[in-house]
Amino acid sequence: MSNKAILEINGEKHELPTFTGSENEVAIDISSLRAVTKGVTTIDPGFKNTGSCVSEITFLDGEKGILRYRGYSIEELAEKADFLEVAYLLIFGELPTKEALDKFHADIKSESIVDDDIRKIIDAFPKSAHPMGVLSSLTSALTAFNPSSVNVDSEKDMYNSVVRILGKFPVLVAWAMRKKQGLPLDYGDNSLGYVENVLKMMFKQPNEEYVQNEVLVNALNKLLILHADHEQNCSTSTVRIVGSSHAGLFASISAGISALWGPLHGGANQAVLEMLEAIKEDGGDTKKYMAKAKDKSDPFRLMGFGHRVYKNFDPRAKIIKVTADEVLNDLGVEDPILDIAKGLEQEALTDAYFIDRKLYPNVDFYSGIIYRAMGIPVEMFTVMFALGRLPGWIGQWREMRLRKEPIGRPRQIYTGSTLRPFKSVAKK
Ligand code: ACO
Repeated sequence: MSNKAILEINGEKHELPTFTGSENEVAIDISSLRAVTKGVTTIDPGFKNTGSCVSEITFLDGEKGILRYRGYSIEELAEKADFLEVAYLLIFGELPTKEALDKFHADIKSESIVDDDIRKIIDAFPKSAHPMGVLSSLTSALTAFNPSSVNVDSEKDMYNSVVRILGKFPVLVAWAMRKKQGLPLDYGDNSLGYVENVLKMMFKQPNEEYVQNEVLVNALNKLLILHADHEQNCSTSTVRIVGSSHAGLFASISAGISALWGPLHGGANQAVLEMLEAIKEDGGDTKKYMAKAKDKSDPFRLMGFGHRVYKNFDPRAKIIKVTADEVLNDLGVEDPILDIAKGLEQEALTDAYFIDRKLYPNVDFYSGIIYRAMGIPVEMFTVMFALGRLPGWIGQWREMRLRKEPIGRPRQIYTGSTLRPFKSVAKK
């Protein structure tokens, strides 16, 4: 293939270089476009055709349903790896040795104390506050309690800020949930693994011992790994673009949490459960809701279906569906919601509307069912997503800073009024 693209505008031809990634994805490098064309800009709402960066972290092929972190398949990682191993891989580029992993975990544990004054901030939130808002605010507040800014040219500084946020974030996650439930805000147990500690921090009742359930530990480990990165999605792009102004890591992650909150992104797992509940309350008629989803005059969408990138199947959804069955079987939960979910999936997979538009269940279609069976309240689902996505955000932020990427500043095409004279209402 030629390594240039020819662009013709008003009879004038311009050559633009092309660039090929390690999986043979071809991109037209338009970084010189405005200079060579004297000001012509591209327009691409939603960035559907725009690569914002080059990255070595995550590869996905939406047509083939492939997702890999640093070259390792998501199926293998979900089956064999620990969440912290995956976090290390995403952030630093290689799987850790046993010693590196032990040190990583020890360093994270040593950073797991959150300044007690943070409790005062939590206390100021009403119980009705959505935990995603609480988490985003508290993550931003962490900056005030850890004022040293990161010297990105110092490997040590960079490492310290990574373990600091990995240590404190799960405490905030647990506190966001406990605040809502009126439970005392506790610290974790440093004798436990990262995932076990998260579960204990969330569920420990003040008057009884917390007993770990291996099936839940494995399920959460898998869910966190499956959510850990997904290249340049809305929240990750937000983290990179906020960080590109040299805002700190905590501030960038806080912005990512806000971006994740929306129902078209990470908020979909909550929206799926609310939708399934509504269908159940309405008599469980899945056909009625399928018809609503297809009706263009009805704003209803089948939540948990469709994906900007996956147009075949979401490999994470396949793994999660199996995990959902395991967890429900182990806990002996018979959930009518699961039957409704399976019914909807079956109908959608054989329906021309969904087939033609390549709409398949995404990662969030089954994750909420697992979280619910684990006893996690619906409003916490997106918070759990954020906990999983944290290493991806950190890795992407670190990559962007180490590459010394320029500040993100898209262009626009102005379509408003041209120059017009100002007429004051006060003066005639
Ligand atoms: N239900 C019904 N119709 C749908 C759905 C859906 N869930 N998703 C897309 N469509 C239809 C659209 O109406 C459109 O139809 P048209 O061509 O007749 O106009 C067509 O499919 C294409 O839809 P777009 O919105 O253009 O697709 P896009 O790639 O921009 O959006 C998105 C992807 C936002 C995920 C969309 O599929 C959606 O809203 N899904 C439901 C929300 C959801 O589950 N989000 C989670 C995403 S995964 C994640 O963030 C981890």
